[in-house]
Amino acid sequence: MNIRRLVAVCAAGVATTLAVSTAASAATGAENNHHSASSDSLRALASKVGLRIGTAVDMAKLNVDPSYTGLVADQFNVVTPENVMKWDTTEPSPGVYNYTQGDQLVAFARQHGQLVRGHTLLWHNQIPSWITNGVSAGTISDAQLKEILHQHITSEVSHFKGKIWQWDVANEFFTDSNPSSINPNDFWVSHLGSGIIGDAFRWAHEADPKALLFYNDYNIAGEDGSNAKSDAVYAFVKQLQAQGVPIDGVGNQGHLDTQYGFSGTRMQQDLQRYADAGFKVAITEADVRTFVNNPTDQVPIDNLAQFAQPYEFSQMLKGCLAVSQCISFTTWGVYDGDSWIPGFFSNPQEGYALLYDVNMAPKAAYTDLQQDLMLAAYGAPHRTGAGALP
Ligand code: XIL
Repeated sequence: MNIRRLVAVCAAGVATTLAVSTAASAATGAENNHHSASSDSLRALASKVGLRIGTAVDMAKLNVDPSYTGLVADQFNVVTPENVMKWDTTEPSPGVYNYTQGDQLVAFARQHGQLVRGHTLLWHNQIPSWITNGVSAGTISDAQLKEILHQHITSEVSHFKGKIWQWDVANEFFTDSNPSSINPNDFWVSHLGSGIIGDAFRWAHEADPKALLFYNDYNIAGEDGSNAKSDAVYAFVKQLQAQGVPIDGVGNQGHLDTQYGFSGTRMQQDLQRYADAGFKVAITEADVRTFVNNPTDQVPIDNLAQFAQPYEFSQMLKGCLAVSQCISFTTWGVYDGDSWIPGFFSNPQEGYALLYDVNMAPKAAYTDLQQDLMLAAYGAPHRTGAGALP
């Protein structure tokens, strides 16, 4: 990153700080700067450029494991519930709502000067079986399914009204093919058509007009190599916008894998393209996985992975930092011992994806992000003395 870029990042950061703190007080009513995070924490450093740095939170560990809880409080200033705002938790049986754990996270966030990203309202995964079984048995018609969805979104967004900064309204609707398109076989699309995505945004907006509403997906900033998925999502969100659908932002999940390589430059260009079209952007689920020996120790098999993993994390953060509309950068979990990666990518075994290792010690990726944030905040010092340019 050259000096001019750094200066531009700093200048943009000032504007972002103002915009974000307005949204922050709207969403929490809390003053953000009261938390006494150490000055070299990620949250303190990121706040200098107005960026929110976040983590997905596992409610089985928060306020249970003190070391885990300390890291969440000290290092991050935005949190996402890893699972507890998904449908299988929030409406386990028809019309029976459960927001207990979501409320606990919101309370924790408020106490620690953090904002909350709500995740997620419309997704093909983690839907309760009463819905999927009802649909396949024919006891829930498509018209009823639509009404169930409308009720669900209205209930959940109303419950958390005023407490959510950004909602991931719709999650993972696009195919990984080239060209990419809305997946016609998606559970929701196959029953209700692709127009259901715009409806979800409208219903969420009616329930909480101040929350920022995001479309969220993976590989939508060039990670697929061809940029096909980014092109498709870009065209789609522009179309929603043209139709007057209340969509505010695009979330790129940021699940990377060192075996594929990654272009931070391409990510930055793609994020900027969404931003130039009027969208806020966010990195919502960052992790960088690699092949490891076993799921417990998660020692990278290839020695180069210990360099590639932090490098890709750093590139991703720099891509976000360079785009002033990139308002948050969230990692999908706190430490490798509590990451979804080893369970989900187990053949061959992957892991080592987060900023803290299996023992909660900070890894190279952590210190790299710290350095990136410091550089972004302060820029490089201007040279003086003999021979220095003015
Ligand atoms: C994952 C959680 O991390 C796991 O605990 C859960 O078992 C499955 O879902 N994309 C998303 C996230 O949008 O919600 C997923 O989270 C990871 C992939």
